[in-house]
Amino acid sequence: MINRRQFFHITAAGAAGLLTGGMASLLNAGVARAAIHVSSDFNPDLDVVLKAAADEIPILPGAPTDVWRFKGQLLDGDPSNLVDMERSYLGPIIRARTGQKIRIRFNNAMADPTIVHWHGLHVPAEMDGHPRLVIPGGETYVYEFEIRNRAGTYWYHPHPHGLTGPQVYGGLAGLFLVSDDEEEAAGLPSGEYDIPLVLQDRAFDRSNQLIYLSGHHMEQMNGFLGDWIMVNGQPDFSLPVATRAYRLRLLNGSNARIYRLAWKDGRPLTVIGTDGGLLEEPVQRRYVMLGPGERVELWADFSNDAVGSETALVSLPFDDGMLGGGRMGRGMMGGGGDGLPNGAGFTIFRVGVNRAEETVLTLPQRLSAIERYDPADAVNPEDPKRFHLVMRHMAWTINGRTFQMEQVAAEERVALNSLEVWEFINEGGGMGMMGGMAMPHPIHLHGMQFQVLQRRGVTHEGYVDEGWKDTVLLMPGERVRVLARFGDYAGLFLYHCHNLEHEDMGMMRNYLVENTASAA
Ligand code: C2O
Ligand code: CU
Ligand code: CU
Repeated sequence: MINRRQFFHITAAGAAGLLTGGMASLLNAGVARAAIHVSSDFNPDLDVVLKAAADEIPILPGAPTDVWRFKGQLLDGDPSNLVDMERSYLGPIIRARTGQKIRIRFNNAMADPTIVHWHGLHVPAEMDGHPRLVIPGGETYVYEFEIRNRAGTYWYHPHPHGLTGPQVYGGLAGLFLVSDDEEEAAGLPSGEYDIPLVLQDRAFDRSNQLIYLSGHHMEQMNGFLGDWIMVNGQPDFSLPVATRAYRLRLLNGSNARIYRLAWKDGRPLTVIGTDGGLLEEPVQRRYVMLGPGERVELWADFSNDAVGSETALVSLPFDDGMLGGGRMGRGMMGGGGDGLPNGAGFTIFRVGVNRAEETVLTLPQRLSAIERYDPADAVNPEDPKRFHLVMRHMAWTINGRTFQMEQVAAEERVALNSLEVWEFINEGGGMGMMGGMAMPHPIHLHGMQFQVLQRRGVTHEGYVDEGWKDTVLLMPGERVRVLARFGDYAGLFLYHCHNLEHEDMGMMRNYLVENTASAA
């Protein structure tokens, strides 16, 4: 039986049987010692304990599901800045304002090593959750940083090399929402009308336990797909709304699934924000492609809908561009998702209009100011650094290389505060024995927000490239040029594919920000 599945064991004793790839060496690599002490000269606005531990939670009717879970505890600060998500395995929502200082004492109460990454936040290298900084079970890593990002929907998740996929899948993820004055002035729906929605897929066995990879190489090559679509950790999510406007913040927190978001009734999506916060002005799309790691914010106005009417946010079917070996292999050896391949259509959640409300909000035509990078200011305006997303020796690579803990290639060195043009190239097709295997790759840069300069070979509409981005989806055949500024913080950061199985198999590399001025 090719399709035999391996159960996903979540216990305090660790993830037995997963494809962990050199776990022991992870901890013995002579990594930098964890930051275990709080600094006396850092006065945080928010001081919390965040603990990762095994837990169980009812998800489907019947037996509860074993999960891993972030739990928060407020030590100091406003309690509204650390809020549990109801009925969910997801971690608490952390809220902060631009300029605030945050201390998070992260405690690893699991057996496996881990470290937490603040996806989208601009923080110093030692605060960014690089896998070389993993801590073993029982230890604590103290994060202290100032929020330098603008308002936006950021998130956090583990980042141990080779274990990010299973740990996120097991439940370790949460939202990190930043606000600022500009956002407040935009006049968007707030409070209970500002709704975060985390999209993930999961697969369950007959006793309601999570199923992860079967151990078959082909499955890891494709990325894990589940056949249950979860919203905020719930399998049956629906959204009751009043006849008024809402702000919906969507995060694709799935390991490998891509969503082609649309309203079921065909009304266009009104997009107001992306990974790094609000757009300059709203844009309309018939649908939006959302890859793993990406966020999109919608203005959803139900003021013309009748009380009692229903609509839904759906994922429309799409061609994922996989050819030859990929498509065949998926059907034969797919994981929990053989019932729901990438590109299948489904309902994400229903929206029921259940009450009238008089509040009339008009969509602001001006949302925020975005300072546009000028390509002429880049060190290489005409000569982008090229990063080819290709399969080599049955593994996904970037320029033919896989992740090595401390390794940095020539094109991965950048000068502190420089602006560079990077081009990602998803060639697709023609890769020899794999029979032209090609796949979508959502490419993520740590530690910054970048701007998309150009997208070529476009196979799908539905990209929102207008705003600040930290993750950009490339379907097979596409090339994307980005303008990235490596500002403020020297040190070792990551860029990688945010298909978490690709990342775990090594489709991840370091970039090194060098302070050449201080060396001189
Ligand atoms: Cu959201 Cu390196 O990750
Ligand atoms: Cu990140
Ligand atoms: Cu990938």
